[in-house]
Amino acid sequence: MNISIIGSGYVGLVTGAALAQLGNKVICVDNDRDKIAGLSKGRVPIYEPGLKELISANVRRKRLKFTSSIKEAVEGSEVIFIAVGTPSLENGEADLTGIENVARNIALNMKEYRLIVEKSTVPVETGEWVKHTIATYIKKKIVFDVASNPEFLREGTAIRDFMHPDRIVIGVESKKAEELLSRLYEPLNAPLVITDIKSAELIKHAANSFLATKISFINAVSRVCDLVGADVAEVARGMGLDKRIGSSFLNAGIGYGGSCFPKDLDAFITISKKLGYDFGILKAAKNVNEEQKNFVIRKIKDALWIVKGKVISVLGLSFKPDTDDIRSSPALDLIESLRTEGAKFKVYDPQAMQKAKAALKGVEFCKDAYGAVRNADCIIVATEWPEFKDLDFRKIRKLVKRPLLIDGRNIYNPQVLRKLGFTYIGIGR
Ligand code: UDX
Repeated sequence: MNISIIGSGYVGLVTGAALAQLGNKVICVDNDRDKIAGLSKGRVPIYEPGLKELISANVRRKRLKFTSSIKEAVEGSEVIFIAVGTPSLENGEADLTGIENVARNIALNMKEYRLIVEKSTVPVETGEWVKHTIATYIKKKIVFDVASNPEFLREGTAIRDFMHPDRIVIGVESKKAEELLSRLYEPLNAPLVITDIKSAELIKHAANSFLATKISFINAVSRVCDLVGADVAEVARGMGLDKRIGSSFLNAGIGYGGSCFPKDLDAFITISKKLGYDFGILKAAKNVNEEQKNFVIRKIKDALWIVKGKVISVLGLSFKPDTDDIRSSPALDLIESLRTEGAKFKVYDPQAMQKAKAALKGVEFCKDAYGAVRNADCIIVATEWPEFKDLDFRKIRKLVKRPLLIDGRNIYNPQVLRKLGFTYIGIGR
């Protein structure tokens, strides 16, 4: 099939590369000309395992190309995905300026039937607005369809998630749209949830909000574990084996971050309110997440007593492992907060250093974890990168000023570290 993806960010690039890999001819569009020039030369602006290779291979096979021209994309493809950003506005609502712009430009360049598919996470009823916008700006009477096909991929495992999805959600209003999208995804052999557009939009809100709530739930349990002297990892293991609960997304830590959960929760709370429903559970989940960061900061302060002048080593800056994404990363919030109290920071991340350098001023960026812990009064592991699990703590014991470890992701065995002479502080254990 001939496909275009408008918006070459995370979702757009992964979707474009993966659909090309499935044998389609794909045009990826972005209005950032530098980004497009770079991509055409094989420069991928984000770190995502396997993405660079997948893009190069499909560019070589002439199944994937990049352009800044929506006109070229609309003329050359029957199915057009919209995957532009929908950032949060001050009031928590999603900013849909990008979506509206793209819908208008598609309409202005449409000469025959096109299927326009929302891929970005958008508020329920955006499909209606896209349809209305296209109908308003279209030059002559051309038949078109709008569909919703939300993406569930996670950063760090995005290609695997795309190629092996638990399900594919398709929200449509016509048989033709259903047939086109079912055919496109047939090679993935995944269960299809075919529904109306609004239900498809709500599936995405509900799934992300549920997962964020699940994390906040276990983080709240971790607080009680802390008070009573229980181990949240054991509690989560015992809960997770119940098939109705499931063991994933039950890891307590310093809170969730990233470009999706915080923004999607805000958007769902705001949409529900606008529609007349006060989504209290989600407000509570959001509060627990904010409070979790403060809780970790309090733990650090309690352990250090005086923060001013202390050297704090932070291992991990990205919001999760296997990505260089630092958007809403709890590690950064923590650094900013303790920096205002006079702490000095030495930091290291396997992939996110470049992005962090642009966002964090006045901290020392180190070449590796051992460099970052040298002379530290306290080490905080903020992201569970696999390489941190294998650190040589005997060596670290000799490098630090004070053997104090805050395990923000509960990745170490407390007994082992205590035996090595560390003061070990985990989350809810
Ligand atoms: C999420 C959704 O999982 C995905 O379906 C959607 O398309 C986009 O948003 P992503 O933000 O890439 O994906 O990462 P995810 O693996 O879901 O983690 C989100 C945050 O939750 C991270 O900060 C992570 O550290 C945290 N998390 C996750 C926990 O604190 N505990 C857990 O058990 C799981």
